[in-house]
Amino acid sequence: MSGSTLFLLRLVFLVGTAATLAGATDHIVGANRGWNPGINYTLWANNHTFYVNDLISFRYSKFQYNVYQVNQTGYDNCTIEGALGNWSSGKDFILLDKAKRYYFICGTGGCFNGMKVSVLVHPLPPPPTAAAAATNQTSPKSAAKAVFRPGSVVLGTLVVSLASILLGFEWI
Ligand SMILES: *[C@@H]1O[C@H](CO)[C@@H](O)[C@H](O)[C@H]1NC(C)=O
Ligand SMILES: *[C@@H]1O[C@H](CO)[C@@H](O)[C@H](O)[C@H]1NC(C)=O
Ligand SMILES: *[C@@H]1O[C@H](CO)[C@@H](O)[C@H](O)[C@H]1NC(C)=O
Ligand SMILES: *[C@@H]1O[C@H](CO)[C@@H](O)[C@H](O)[C@H]1NC(C)=O
Ligand SMILES: *[C@@H]1O[C@H](CO)[C@@H](O)[C@H](O)[C@H]1NC(C)=O
Ligand SMILES: *[C@@H]1O[C@H](CO)[C@@H](O)[C@H](O)[C@H]1NC(C)=O
Repeated sequence: MSGSTLFLLRLVFLVGTAATLAGATDHIVGANRGWNPGINYTLWANNHTFYVNDLISFRYSKFQYNVYQVNQTGYDNCTIEGALGNWSSGKDFILLDKAKRYYFICGTGGCFNGMKVSVLVHPLPPPPTAAAAATNQTSPKSAAKAVFRPGSVVLGTLVVSLASILLGFEWI
C-alpha cells in the first residue's frame, strides 16, 4: 500500500472517529439477516469496527434461540459452562464496555450451525480534533519530530501523531 493510500485510510478512520464520538454505534449482528443458523458471522464481524461503549445487538426468535457471552473455550466448543452472561428477549442490546475480545454463542444448539460470533473491541479512538488537523501527509516518524517544534500546531500535530501511531498499529 502506498504512503498516500495509507494516509487517506487514516484520514477516513479519523473522520469516522468523529462520528463514533458523536454517538456510540449499535452493531446489529447479521444486519437484516439477524441471529440465525447458517450465517458466517466471522464475515459479518470482519466488516465492522468495534469501539468501547458501542452496542452489539441480537435479533432473533426468542422461542428458538438465545445469546450467551462465553470465553474462547465456549466459543470454540459451543459450550456455555461458566458463561459470562445470557440474554433471551429476542432483541438484546449488549454494551461492549471493555477493550477486549468478546465471544457470543447461541445456547440452544444453534452454535453448531454457525450461531457464534467473536468481536474485538478497540479502545476509544483519539479526539475528533485530529481530523481537522490532518490536512497534510504525516508519517508517524515525521509527526513525532514535529511535536518538538514550537508553535500553535503542536497540539494538533501531537494528536495526529498519536492517531497515526495508534491507527498504524495492526489490530487483529
Ligand atoms: C467464515 O468465513 C471465514 C473467513 O472467510 C472462514 O475462515 C471460515 O472458515 C468461515 N466459517 C465457516 C463456518 O464457514
Ligand atoms: C460488508 O459491507 C458492505 C458494505 O456495507 C456490504 O455491501 C456487504 O454486504 C457486507 N458484507 C457482509 C458479509 O456483511
Ligand atoms: C474443546 O474441544 C476440543 C476439541 O473438541 C477439546 O480438545 C478440548 O479439550 C475442549 N476444551 C474444553 C475446555 O472442553
Ligand atoms: C472458559 O471457562 C471455562 C469454565 O469456567 C474454563 O474451564 C476454561 O478454562 C475457560 N477458558 C478460557 C480460555 O479461559
Ligand atoms: C443467565 O443469567 C442469569 C442472570 O442474568 C443467571 O442467574 C443464570 O444463572 C444464567 N444462566 C446460565 C445458564 O448461565
Ligand atoms: C506537506 O508538507 C510538506 C513538508 O512539510 C510540504 O513540502 C508540502 O508542500 C505539504 N503539502 C501540502 C499539500 O500542503
